[in-house]
Amino acid sequence: MRSASKAELEMPEELAIRIEDLSIKYKINVDTKRTLKNAVMRASKGEKVRMRVVEAVKHLTLDVPHGSVLGIVGANGAGKSTLMRAIAGILPPTEGRITVNGKISTLLALGVGFNPALSGRDNIILGGLASGMTRNEIEEKTEEIADFAALPDGFIDMPVRTYSSGMYGRVAFSVAVNMTPDILLLDEALSAGDASFKEKSFNRMRELCAEARTIVIVSHALQTVNDLCDTAIWMNKGTMLAKGKPEAIVDQYLKFLDVGALPSAFEDM
Ligand SMILES: Nc1ncnc2c1ncn2[C@@H]1O[C@H](COP(=O)(O)OP(=O)(O)OP(=O)(O)O)[C@@H](O)[C@H]1O
Ligand SMILES: [Mg+2]
Repeated sequence: MRSASKAELEMPEELAIRIEDLSIKYKINVDTKRTLKNAVMRASKGEKVRMRVVEAVKHLTLDVPHGSVLGIVGANGAGKSTLMRAIAGILPPTEGRITVNGKISTLLALGVGFNPALSGRDNIILGGLASGMTRNEIEEKTEEIADFAALPDGFIDMPVRTYSSGMYGRVAFSVAVNMTPDILLLDEALSAGDASFKEKSFNRMRELCAEARTIVIVSHALQTVNDLCDTAIWMNKGTMLAKGKPEAIVDQYLKFLDVGALPSAFEDM
């Protein structure tokens, strides 16, 4: 078993996630013609590659206690997904530190990591293996996950490339929520299913909340944030502008967007 790092030892027990002064920058090569010939010509002339730096997350500090459900709202490009990828450990901090205490399960982009040539069932097994489950656990879970996804006749044994995006979403969501994670990260994960699956997803999320799992949800469906979360943050241009009760945060965000309480803003998922 992995021994705890110094940061983990320093972290108060009641915290699931601690984010300290986190900044994340992307470096983008802005050369329009990215050919090998161009690169060689540049290098021979001693020219540097032109880079643009995008600061997607700026000096963000946040504690997420165990058993809480955090919602993240904000405009397109605000840095929400970047923050989620950093918490998941996919993206290293440019500055600052993230400490996580518990097993993370993520649904950051639907079915990323699925092998399109394999069946839904085989992808579930792969997911289980990747998350470190034992053979017995996987056998047990595979049935449960397949049942939860409840795909139409026989689809669970067909290659996932033959799935509709909703079917894809169902399997991906089922995997993420049924791996009994301590911390569940969901980035717009509830948007793919139809009404009956949404209902089921919602109930499953409520169950996870009741089991005192920690959940972080990024969503443009503001009603979802109001319904499921106990705390929300509003991100804007990489900065956390506000943190508080979901209703208050959603309200502030809507005022900022200047759309008022349009029904579409609350429309579910
Ligand atoms: N892989 C990447 N390489 C370079 N820049 C990126 C990359 N991913 C995101 N960005 C930039 O970082 C900023 C934040 O993007 P991010 O995807 O985190 O926003 P978001 O809040 O999730 O937006 P949305 O609501 O559209 O999903 C944007 O300016 C975006 O262009
Ligand atoms: Mg995003």
